[in-house]
Amino acid sequence: EEETPVIDIDVSRRLSKIDPMTYGGFTEHMGRCIYGGIYDPESPLADSNGYRTDVLDALRELDIPVIRYPGGNFVATYHWQDGIGPRESRPARPELAWLGIEPNSFGTDEFMHWLSVLSEGKEKRVEPYLCLNFGTGTLDEALAWVEYCNGTKNTYWANKRRENGHPEPYNVKYWALGNEVWGPWQVEQMTKEDYAKKAAQWAKALRLLDPNIVLILCGETGVSSWDHWVLKECVQWVDMHSIHVYTCSNEHLPNVTAPLSAERSIQCAAALVDIARIEAGVPPSKPPIKICFDEWNVWDPVRAPGELGAEEKYTLSDALAVAVWLNMFVRQSRFVGMANMAQSVNVISPLMTTKDGVVKQTIWEPLRLFSKYMRGWTLGVHVRSGSYTGPTAPIWLQGMLEEGAPWLDVSASVNEEGVISLVVVNIHDTKDFETKVTVSGKDVQVYRVTGPTIQSVNTAEKTEVGLQEETWDGQGNFVFRKASMTMLRWKQ
Ligand code: AHR
Repeated sequence: EEETPVIDIDVSRRLSKIDPMTYGGFTEHMGRCIYGGIYDPESPLADSNGYRTDVLDALRELDIPVIRYPGGNFVATYHWQDGIGPRESRPARPELAWLGIEPNSFGTDEFMHWLSVLSEGKEKRVEPYLCLNFGTGTLDEALAWVEYCNGTKNTYWANKRRENGHPEPYNVKYWALGNEVWGPWQVEQMTKEDYAKKAAQWAKALRLLDPNIVLILCGETGVSSWDHWVLKECVQWVDMHSIHVYTCSNEHLPNVTAPLSAERSIQCAAALVDIARIEAGVPPSKPPIKICFDEWNVWDPVRAPGELGAEEKYTLSDALAVAVWLNMFVRQSRFVGMANMAQSVNVISPLMTTKDGVVKQTIWEPLRLFSKYMRGWTLGVHVRSGSYTGPTAPIWLQGMLEEGAPWLDVSASVNEEGVISLVVVNIHDTKDFETKVTVSGKDVQVYRVTGPTIQSVNTAEKTEVGLQEETWDGQGNFVFRKASMTMLRWKQ
C-alpha cells in the first residue's frame, strides 16, 4: 500500500523570477501557419488586412509576450528584402526548407503590423523576435534588416521603411543568429567551428549598428558538443543561448515524462554558459546569459498528419505532456529567459483553423492557464509521491537520465498580488491520488484539464479535453484525478 502523497509549498521561499517571455510563440512560413493561418485574405473571417480575426482573438487569450518569426528552417533561404514594398512587385521564390513556393505577400511590415493588431488593448506590445538567415544570407543583408527595422537616421534602409509607410522604427530587440544551423536538413549545414566564427563576427557588426539589440546564439539541445563549443567561442558576444527540443511517444507514460529530459537540457546548457563565461574571463557582474528555449512542444513528424507531418492532432496525453513541459519551465525559471512554443497556428499548434473558425486543441488549456496565472516567482515545493519507474523516452539523453518520474509532477508560483498557483499533473492514467496539500488559504479556485480517455482529442464538433472549474475550502486532502492537470489558486 502506497503512502498518501504530500505536497508542501514553502510560500516564503521565492526561488527565482519567472520571465514573462516564458510564454512566447512562434510563427514560421511553414505549412498553414502564415498563409491560411494568421494571413488568409480570401477568408470571410479575415479583416481588411487579410488577418484572420478569429486567430487574433484566440491568440489574445494566450497573452503571448513575444513571437519568433519567420523561421525555423524556412529562414535558411529567406531574403527579407523580397517581402517588402508593393505586393505586386514582390517575387515568388522556391522555398527549400519545406519545398514549396514562397509568394512573399506576407513579410516584415505585415508581421510588424499584425503584431500591433494582436497587441491592441494590451499594456505591453507583443515583442517581435526575428531570426537571421545563416544559410544563404549575408552579413550585409542582416545589417540591412536591422537598419530597416530599427534605423532612426537618414540612411538607405531606414528611409526605405519610411517610404513603405512606416515612419517610426520598429525597435526589434530580439535577433537570432541563425536557426538549427547544425542540422543535416539545412541547405548549408555548418560545423561548430565555422558557425562560431561567423556568429561572433556577425554579432560584433550587428551591435555596432544597434547596441540595444539582444543577440541569441544558435545552440542545439543544450546537451551537445555543439552547445559546448559555440558557447566557448561566442559567450562574450551574445546575450542568450537558444536550444530546441521536441518530445513525443505513442505510449502515454514515456510521452508525459519525456519533457523531464528537456529539464536536464536547460540545466546542462546553463552550466555550459557558466563554464564558457569563466573561461572567457567574463566578469560575474555582467548580465546573465539565459537560455532561450525557442522551439519546444510535443511533436512526432512521422505520426502527425498534413503534408509536412506538421498538423499534429493532440490527445489528452499530449496536453499532460505540455503541462509537464510548462511545470518544468517554471521550476527552471532561474535559467530561462525566453521560451517559444512551436508553433502558434496550424503547425504543431494548440490552435487550428478551418474555413469556418478555429479549433482549440487539447494542449490549449494548459498553455492558457500557465500564461495567465503562472507569473511572478517560482516557489520551493517539496513533493512526496510514488513514482512511475519505466522508460521516460529521453531520445538524445540515453543513459544520462535516470529512469522513472513521480506520479505527481508539480510546480508553484506566487505573483505580485500574493496569489499562489500550484500546478499538479497526475500522469497516472488509471489512478486518482488523494494528497495532503498544505494550502494557506480557504478560498481555493480549482482549474482542472482532463478528458474521457488519454487518447481523447478536440475537434470542430466537440471539445473532449477542456477546462473544469470548481472551488475548494482548502480543508482535508485533495484528490488529483487520474490523467489530469490541476491548478489550485489562492490568496495568501
Ligand atoms: O518548428 C518546426 C521546425 O522544427 C522548425 O522549422 C525547425 O527549426 C525545427 O526543426
